[in-house]
Amino acid sequence: MNNLDKIVSLCKRRGFIFPGSEIYGGLAASYDYGPLGVELKNNIKQLWWKYFIKDREDMVGIDGGIILSPKIWEASGHVENFKDPLVECKKCHHRFRPDKLKDASKCPDCGGEFTAAKMFSGMFQTTIGPIEEEGLRAYLRPETAQAIFANYKNVVDSANMKIPFGIGQIGKAFRNEITTGNFIFRTFEFEQMEIEYFIDPQSDWNKIFEEWVDYIHGFMDIIGLDRKKMHDHEILDSERAFYSKRTIDMEYTFPFGPDELWAIAYRTDYDLGRHQKHSGQSLEYFDESEKRKYIPHVIEPTFGLDRTILAVLSESYCEETLENGETRLVLKFHPNVAPFKAAVFPLLKNKPELVAKAREVFNFLKKDYMCEFDDNGNIGKRYRRQDEIGTPYCITIDFQTLEDGTVTIRDRDTMKQEKVEIKDLKNWLNAKFQ
Ligand code: GAP
Repeated sequence: MNNLDKIVSLCKRRGFIFPGSEIYGGLAASYDYGPLGVELKNNIKQLWWKYFIKDREDMVGIDGGIILSPKIWEASGHVENFKDPLVECKKCHHRFRPDKLKDASKCPDCGGEFTAAKMFSGMFQTTIGPIEEEGLRAYLRPETAQAIFANYKNVVDSANMKIPFGIGQIGKAFRNEITTGNFIFRTFEFEQMEIEYFIDPQSDWNKIFEEWVDYIHGFMDIIGLDRKKMHDHEILDSERAFYSKRTIDMEYTFPFGPDELWAIAYRTDYDLGRHQKHSGQSLEYFDESEKRKYIPHVIEPTFGLDRTILAVLSESYCEETLENGETRLVLKFHPNVAPFKAAVFPLLKNKPELVAKAREVFNFLKKDYMCEFDDNGNIGKRYRRQDEIGTPYCITIDFQTLEDGTVTIRDRDTMKQEKVEIKDLKNWLNAKFQ
């Protein structure tokens, strides 16, 4: 079993991520987040929103629709260009993207011959209206970015923003991918966290671009990704989208090798220019101080949320051999992203006075920290569960607690134990989480 298979199995066993529609035999490349997965996901979203939106005076957020006017996708160029070539094996009928095949002449699954390549749209279609034939053809958005461009003018008019400023958004995107795989790395339905940062075309765009690259690197520390496992891959002129003047793919070393996690692109005035032309609405910005009008240029940092979750899981997954020869499985999450910040145990579940005291400590902490109360099995079994779900601290209430008000805190990573008084617990935890 490689590490990815072990992560997939742990995610299901402990309730992070389940295969989609499993009771009906599953649905290809679809996954559902379980009780712990949704906490992990929400923590990452909230950290992203705080760091990229709330902490910056030059940023605001929106939450746009998944189904937008089809005219938006005509203007953005997606209807025409969001297509990939597809070939089908004449023998086993498996489908591939020719550009992803090492030996483009034969099927890697059965050695069969391929059909000629056909273009295949990556957008999911749907129909607005009760009668399919008469309805309006619409699309599920393949990126969140376009809802930001479509609302650019509304934001300028309503939010008092002066260039340079940016708009961020978190939400679902849908792509009818020809090849999916590597767990939640490439799926049909996923979440993006995107920013469109609007700048003056006369400004030093490369400087602003570099500042964003540095700022994005800072997010790795917040969610606990090792900077050494990430590298910036500068996309060559010949491989960039025609409207982009510079693109960097930020690649993370996943268990299956390095691949794109996040990206940043300088998209010039391509998107706003196209929307101005197609909508007939002026999307020019008027600079009051310089009495100058222009269509803003855009720098776009983009983040796949599910890929970020996979990176965080890969980074945290750890197998340790203990002195007694047993293997300890631990998710060494950064405390910022850990679903539970602490777990509270009574040493023995059949001693009502210990259970009552443990409940009291749990209720005291849970208003400020996401905590779990656990009195299943013995202490060893509880530690094993908390290690596997990445809880940084386990707090045990024992007979000494009843005597002197101290609890025992066990550290997930070092397994060292320390005594802390209940009245100091919140201060102790506060110091750990900052
Ligand atoms: N607005 C620009 C844009 O959408 P992209 O590189 O096509 O750019 C941005 O996508 C990010 O979305 C990627 O870096 C990746 O993290 C994530 N992503 C793209 N396709 C995905 C898929 N099929 N499954 C999961 N994540 C995906």
